[in-house]
Amino acid sequence: MPSPGARCDNVSMPTVPTPAPTPAPADRPAPASAAAPDTAPAPYPATPPYQGFPLRHPAHPPVRLLTGPESAEFYGPVFGLTDVTPLDCDLTVQHPGTPIGERITVTGRLLDDRGHPIPHQLIELWQANAAGRYAHQGDQHDAPLDPNFTGAGRALTDAAGRYAFTTIKPGPYPLGTPGDPWRAAHLHFSLFGRAFTQRLVTQMYFEGDPLLAYDSVLHAAPNAAARRRLIATYAPGPPLPGRPMSLTYHWDIVLGGPAPTAAPA
Ligand SMILES: [Fe+2]
Repeated sequence: MPSPGARCDNVSMPTVPTPAPTPAPADRPAPASAAAPDTAPAPYPATPPYQGFPLRHPAHPPVRLLTGPESAEFYGPVFGLTDVTPLDCDLTVQHPGTPIGERITVTGRLLDDRGHPIPHQLIELWQANAAGRYAHQGDQHDAPLDPNFTGAGRALTDAAGRYAFTTIKPGPYPLGTPGDPWRAAHLHFSLFGRAFTQRLVTQMYFEGDPLLAYDSVLHAAPNAAARRRLIATYAPGPPLPGRPMSLTYHWDIVLGGPAPTAAPA
Protein backbone atom coordinates (compact mmCIF):
# COMPACT_ATOMS: atom_id res chain seq x y z
CA MET A 1 0.00 0.00 0.00
CA PRO A 2 1.20 3.53 -0.51
CA SER A 3 3.16 4.96 2.34
CA PRO A 4 1.19 7.68 4.15
CA GLY A 5 2.40 11.02 3.04
CA ALA A 6 4.58 9.67 0.24
CA ARG A 7 3.88 12.14 -2.55
CA CYS A 8 5.55 12.60 -5.92
CA ASP A 9 3.31 15.38 -7.14
CA ASN A 10 3.17 17.85 -4.28
CA VAL A 11 3.71 20.90 -6.44
CA SER A 12 1.41 22.96 -8.60
CA MET A 13 2.18 23.20 -12.28
CA PRO A 14 0.28 23.76 -15.51
CA THR A 15 -1.32 20.65 -16.93
CA VAL A 16 0.55 19.63 -20.04
CA PRO A 17 0.21 16.25 -21.75
CA THR A 18 3.13 14.02 -20.98
CA PRO A 19 4.42 11.04 -22.89
CA ALA A 20 3.75 7.66 -21.31
CA PRO A 21 6.70 6.31 -19.32
CA THR A 22 8.90 4.05 -21.37
CA PRO A 23 10.21 0.71 -20.12
CA ALA A 24 13.59 1.01 -18.52
CA PRO A 25 16.29 -0.15 -20.86
CA ALA A 26 18.74 -2.59 -19.43
CA ASP A 27 22.39 -1.91 -19.99
CA ARG A 28 23.67 -5.37 -20.40
CA PRO A 29 25.49 -6.26 -23.61
CA ALA A 30 23.56 -8.18 -26.23
CA PRO A 31 24.19 -11.92 -26.51
CA ALA A 32 27.38 -12.78 -28.33
CA SER A 33 25.48 -13.95 -31.40
CA ALA A 34 23.82 -10.55 -31.76
CA ALA A 35 26.71 -8.39 -30.65
CA ALA A 36 28.11 -5.72 -32.90
CA PRO A 37 31.55 -6.29 -34.39
CA ASP A 38 34.34 -5.59 -31.96
CA THR A 39 35.31 -2.26 -33.47
CA ALA A 40 35.45 0.05 -30.50
CA PRO A 41 35.72 3.73 -31.44
CA ALA A 42 38.70 5.72 -30.37
CA PRO A 43 38.12 6.75 -26.77
CA TYR A 44 37.19 10.30 -25.91
CA PRO A 45 38.18 11.63 -23.51
CA ALA A 46 41.28 9.71 -22.49
CA THR A 47 39.48 7.13 -20.42
CA PRO A 48 39.14 3.48 -21.38
CA PRO A 49 35.94 2.40 -23.13
CA TYR A 50 33.22 0.88 -21.01
CA GLN A 51 33.71 -2.84 -20.63
CA GLY A 52 31.06 -4.50 -22.73
CA PHE A 53 29.67 -1.26 -24.21
CA PRO A 54 32.26 0.06 -26.68
CA LEU A 55 29.61 1.66 -28.87
CA ARG A 56 28.27 3.67 -25.92
CA HIS A 57 31.61 5.17 -25.01
CA PRO A 58 32.08 8.77 -26.13
CA ALA A 59 33.99 8.82 -29.41
CA HIS A 60 33.99 12.55 -30.16
CA PRO A 61 34.26 15.76 -28.17
CA PRO A 62 30.95 17.28 -27.10
CA VAL A 63 29.19 19.43 -29.68
CA ARG A 64 28.84 22.99 -28.44
CA LEU A 65 25.28 24.19 -28.91
CA LEU A 66 24.43 27.70 -29.95
CA THR A 67 22.06 28.98 -27.32
CA GLY A 68 20.39 32.28 -26.73
CA PRO A 69 17.01 33.92 -26.45
CA GLU A 70 16.40 33.30 -30.10
CA SER A 71 17.09 29.61 -29.88
CA ALA A 72 13.90 27.64 -30.41
CA GLU A 73 15.24 24.69 -28.45
CA PHE A 74 16.65 26.53 -25.48
CA TYR A 75 13.77 25.58 -23.26
CA GLY A 76 13.30 21.91 -22.51
CA PRO A 77 10.06 19.96 -22.52
CA VAL A 78 7.47 20.88 -19.93
CA PHE A 79 5.94 18.08 -17.91
CA GLY A 80 2.63 18.43 -16.20
CA LEU A 81 1.42 16.67 -13.11
CA THR A 82 -1.34 14.55 -14.50
CA ASP A 83 0.84 11.52 -15.27
CA VAL A 84 2.94 11.62 -12.09
CA THR A 85 1.04 9.75 -9.41
CA PRO A 86 1.78 9.29 -5.71
CA LEU A 87 2.95 5.78 -6.46
CA ASP A 88 5.57 6.78 -8.99
CA CYS A 89 8.27 7.78 -6.51
CA ASP A 90 7.82 4.70 -4.30
CA LEU A 91 8.93 1.65 -6.25
CA THR A 92 8.03 -0.65 -3.34
CA VAL A 93 4.27 -0.11 -3.59
CA GLN A 94 3.62 -0.55 -7.28
CA HIS A 95 2.48 -4.20 -7.01
CA PRO A 96 0.21 -6.20 -4.70
CA GLY A 97 3.11 -7.69 -2.77
CA THR A 98 6.26 -6.34 -1.18
CA PRO A 99 9.44 -6.62 -3.26
CA ILE A 100 12.38 -8.54 -1.89
CA GLY A 101 15.43 -6.63 -0.78
CA GLU A 102 16.77 -3.80 1.32
CA ARG A 103 14.34 -0.88 1.34
CA ILE A 104 16.06 2.47 0.82
CA THR A 105 15.12 6.09 0.26
CA VAL A 106 17.32 8.19 -2.00
CA THR A 107 16.87 11.90 -1.55
CA GLY A 108 18.67 15.11 -2.40
CA ARG A 109 18.42 18.34 -4.32
CA LEU A 110 18.42 19.17 -8.00
CA LEU A 111 20.70 22.18 -8.52
CA ASP A 112 21.65 24.36 -11.46
CA ASP A 113 25.12 25.54 -12.45
CA ARG A 114 25.04 28.30 -9.79
CA GLY A 115 23.92 26.00 -6.99
CA HIS A 116 20.34 27.22 -7.09
CA PRO A 117 17.60 24.62 -6.59
CA ILE A 118 15.56 23.66 -9.63
CA PRO A 119 11.92 23.26 -8.57
CA HIS A 120 9.11 21.36 -10.24
CA GLN A 121 11.28 19.29 -12.55
CA LEU A 122 10.88 15.70 -13.62
CA ILE A 123 13.37 13.07 -12.43
CA GLU A 124 13.14 9.53 -13.81
CA LEU A 125 14.79 6.47 -12.26
CA TRP A 126 15.26 2.87 -13.40
CA GLN A 127 17.20 0.01 -11.90
CA ALA A 128 17.80 -3.71 -11.42
CA ASN A 129 16.10 -5.61 -8.61
CA ALA A 130 17.81 -6.84 -5.44
CA ALA A 131 19.18 -9.84 -7.33
CA GLY A 132 20.74 -7.66 -10.02
CA ARG A 133 18.15 -8.38 -12.73
CA TYR A 134 16.24 -5.84 -14.83
CA ALA A 135 12.59 -6.46 -15.63
CA HIS A 136 13.43 -6.06 -19.29
CA GLN A 137 13.55 -8.50 -22.17
CA GLY A 138 17.09 -7.42 -22.96
CA ASP A 139 18.33 -8.75 -19.65
CA GLN A 140 18.97 -12.50 -19.82
CA HIS A 141 20.97 -12.71 -16.59
CA ASP A 142 19.85 -15.91 -14.83
CA ALA A 143 19.17 -14.08 -11.54
CA PRO A 144 15.49 -14.20 -10.48
CA LEU A 145 12.92 -11.62 -11.43
CA ASP A 146 10.75 -10.18 -8.66
CA PRO A 147 7.03 -10.16 -9.53
CA ASN A 148 6.56 -7.28 -7.10
CA PHE A 149 9.24 -5.03 -8.52
CA THR A 150 9.37 -3.32 -11.91
CA GLY A 151 12.27 -0.98 -11.17
CA ALA A 152 11.04 2.26 -12.74
CA GLY A 153 9.86 5.45 -11.06
CA ARG A 154 9.38 9.17 -11.48
CA ALA A 155 9.22 12.18 -9.21
CA LEU A 156 8.92 15.93 -9.44
CA THR A 157 11.18 18.14 -7.36
CA ASP A 158 9.39 20.30 -4.82
CA ALA A 159 9.60 24.07 -4.49
CA ALA A 160 13.05 23.76 -2.90
CA GLY A 161 14.37 21.44 -5.60
CA ARG A 162 14.19 18.37 -3.37
CA TYR A 163 13.32 14.89 -4.56
CA ALA A 164 12.92 11.51 -2.89
CA PHE A 165 12.54 7.95 -4.15
CA THR A 166 11.82 4.93 -1.99
CA THR A 167 12.94 1.71 -3.62
CA ILE A 168 14.90 -1.52 -3.17
CA LYS A 169 18.68 -1.37 -3.17
CA PRO A 170 19.73 -2.88 -6.50
CA GLY A 171 22.10 -5.81 -6.65
CA PRO A 172 25.31 -5.87 -8.67
CA TYR A 173 25.30 -7.92 -11.84
CA PRO A 174 27.85 -9.51 -14.15
CA LEU A 175 28.50 -8.01 -17.55
CA GLY A 176 29.18 -11.37 -19.15
CA THR A 177 32.22 -10.05 -20.96
CA PRO A 178 35.81 -11.34 -20.91
CA GLY A 179 37.29 -11.14 -17.44
CA ASP A 180 33.83 -11.52 -15.89
CA PRO A 181 33.56 -7.95 -14.56
CA TRP A 182 30.55 -6.94 -12.46
CA ARG A 183 28.73 -3.64 -12.31
CA ALA A 184 28.63 -1.95 -8.94
CA ALA A 185 25.12 -1.47 -7.55
CA HIS A 186 23.66 1.61 -9.20
CA LEU A 187 20.52 3.55 -10.04
CA HIS A 188 19.96 5.08 -13.48
CA PHE A 189 18.70 8.66 -13.54
CA SER A 190 17.31 10.86 -16.29
CA LEU A 191 16.82 14.60 -15.79
CA PHE A 192 15.44 17.19 -18.14
CA GLY A 193 16.15 20.31 -16.08
CA ARG A 194 14.79 23.66 -17.16
CA ALA A 195 16.52 23.86 -20.51
CA PHE A 196 17.70 21.64 -23.32
CA THR A 197 21.31 22.27 -22.30
CA GLN A 198 20.66 20.82 -18.81
CA ARG A 199 19.60 17.37 -20.08
CA LEU A 200 21.42 14.65 -18.14
CA VAL A 201 21.36 10.86 -18.07
CA THR A 202 23.63 9.36 -15.45
CA GLN A 203 24.03 6.73 -12.74
CA MET A 204 24.23 6.92 -8.95
CA TYR A 205 26.32 4.57 -6.80
CA PHE A 206 26.42 3.64 -3.10
CA GLU A 207 29.27 4.49 -0.77
CA GLY A 208 31.13 1.51 0.66
CA ASP A 209 30.48 -0.77 -2.31
CA PRO A 210 33.69 -2.78 -2.95
CA LEU A 211 32.87 -2.87 -6.66
CA LEU A 212 33.27 0.90 -6.98
CA ALA A 213 36.99 0.38 -7.58
CA TYR A 214 36.29 -1.83 -10.59
CA ASP A 215 33.19 -0.38 -12.26
CA SER A 216 34.12 0.64 -15.79
CA VAL A 217 31.20 3.03 -16.23
CA LEU A 218 31.95 4.89 -13.00
CA HIS A 219 35.60 5.13 -14.00
CA ALA A 220 34.65 6.74 -17.28
CA ALA A 221 33.90 9.88 -15.27
CA PRO A 222 36.62 12.43 -16.01
CA ASN A 223 38.38 12.45 -12.62
CA ALA A 224 38.23 11.30 -8.99
CA ALA A 225 36.16 14.30 -7.88
CA ALA A 226 33.59 13.65 -10.59
CA ARG A 227 33.42 10.00 -9.53
CA ARG A 228 32.85 10.99 -5.89
CA ARG A 229 29.94 13.20 -6.95
CA LEU A 230 28.24 10.11 -8.43
CA ILE A 231 28.29 8.25 -5.10
CA ALA A 232 25.41 8.65 -2.65
CA THR A 233 26.23 8.86 1.05
CA TYR A 234 24.40 7.02 3.80
CA ALA A 235 22.43 9.44 5.96
CA PRO A 236 22.05 8.02 9.49
CA GLY A 237 19.04 8.93 11.52
CA PRO A 238 15.30 8.35 11.42
CA PRO A 239 13.63 7.73 8.05
CA LEU A 240 12.06 10.59 6.17
CA PRO A 241 8.42 11.34 7.06
CA GLY A 242 6.10 9.07 5.13
CA ARG A 243 8.90 6.69 4.22
CA PRO A 244 9.19 4.28 7.16
CA MET A 245 11.46 1.27 7.39
CA SER A 246 14.01 2.43 4.86
CA LEU A 247 17.66 3.42 4.99
CA THR A 248 18.25 6.90 3.66
CA TYR A 249 20.93 7.85 1.14
CA HIS A 250 21.66 11.41 0.11
CA TRP A 251 22.64 12.47 -3.40
CA ASP A 252 22.53 15.96 -4.91
CA ILE A 253 22.38 16.31 -8.69
CA VAL A 254 24.05 19.35 -10.28
CA LEU A 255 23.22 20.31 -13.86
CA GLY A 256 26.27 22.21 -15.04
CA GLY A 257 28.72 24.61 -13.46
CA PRO A 258 32.23 23.98 -12.12
CA ALA A 259 31.30 20.77 -10.26
CA PRO A 260 28.56 19.10 -12.29
CA THR A 261 27.15 15.64 -11.98
CA ALA A 262 28.98 13.66 -14.63
CA ALA A 263 27.22 11.58 -17.25
CA PRO A 264 29.00 8.26 -17.70
CA ALA A 265 25.80 6.34 -18.41
FE1 LIG B 1 22.44 -0.68 -15.06
